[in-house]
Amino acid sequence: MNDHATSPGQAAPQGIDTSVPHSARIWNYWLGGKDHYPVDEQAGDAYTAVFPGIVTIARGSRAFLRRNITYLAAEAGIRQFLDVGTGLPSADNTHEVAQRIASGSRIVYVDNDPLVLAHARDLLSSTPQGATSYIDADVHAPDRILAAAADTLDLSRPTALILSNILGHVADTGQARSIVDQLMGALPSGSYLSVNDGSRGIDPIFEQAQDAYNESGAVPYNLRTVDEITSLFDGLDLLEPGVVPVTQWRPEATSPAPEVIAEHGGLARKP
Ligand SMILES: C[S@@+](CC[C@H](N)C(=O)[O-])C[C@H]1O[C@@H](n2cnc3c(N)ncnc32)[C@H](O)[C@@H]1O
Repeated sequence: MNDHATSPGQAAPQGIDTSVPHSARIWNYWLGGKDHYPVDEQAGDAYTAVFPGIVTIARGSRAFLRRNITYLAAEAGIRQFLDVGTGLPSADNTHEVAQRIASGSRIVYVDNDPLVLAHARDLLSSTPQGATSYIDADVHAPDRILAAAADTLDLSRPTALILSNILGHVADTGQARSIVDQLMGALPSGSYLSVNDGSRGIDPIFEQAQDAYNESGAVPYNLRTVDEITSLFDGLDLLEPGVVPVTQWRPEATSPAPEVIAEHGGLARKP
């Protein structure tokens, strides 16, 4: 990592494996952050050498997340957020966007990367009126996530579940659907689901770069077809414009021209 580089004689923080690239750190590299190690930069550069568009995907995806949270806090009146697969702190973290609009918002972050845990204090800088907490848990364990989230959130009240670039880490689409069903099943009517993930069937070069990445030793990330991503919203009411390239989800006047990119997302309300 730039700040914590493993120079001779200097060990990485405990529990952090700097010999294998990791998605949170590579993602942080593409987003222009500082929290990554040489192994992540090499993996990130190998990826962009094949598919430079990943940087647009990473940044477009964060902008989609910000627009989703803004809608949820400003227009839908949501005051509770469960953000699974949080990633390293970046610009416009979920609690910052939500609490700028409604200072009493409560946010639970969940990730299983020790480096994200090491940086969790940056995610816990809540307003005095609101609250943030961090759970070290695997997305494959929704029951554990829900039990721990209940310490901070009142799960009998509408809550937004944020799954931004995390379900690709679940190998099987059926299993991803089951995780979404279990998490959304525990939330009341009026709750929301926000999902965005890398999509298959749009750009063969992206798929080639992703296949090579998945063979690099990093935790694999599986691209899904737009239909598969859309199926994650089954049983929920998708808001307009549905599941679209993230750049085309309610772009702002100041947003870059909404090009078609292989990253699809949507926002839906539980009826
Ligand atoms: C590509 S990053 C996305 C970060 C952020 N949500 C965003 O969209 O900008 C994927 C995140 O998922 C986390 N992750 C990967 N596998 C996970 C798992 N099985 N359980 C929980 N988190 C996981 C990684 O540590 C990383 O922080």
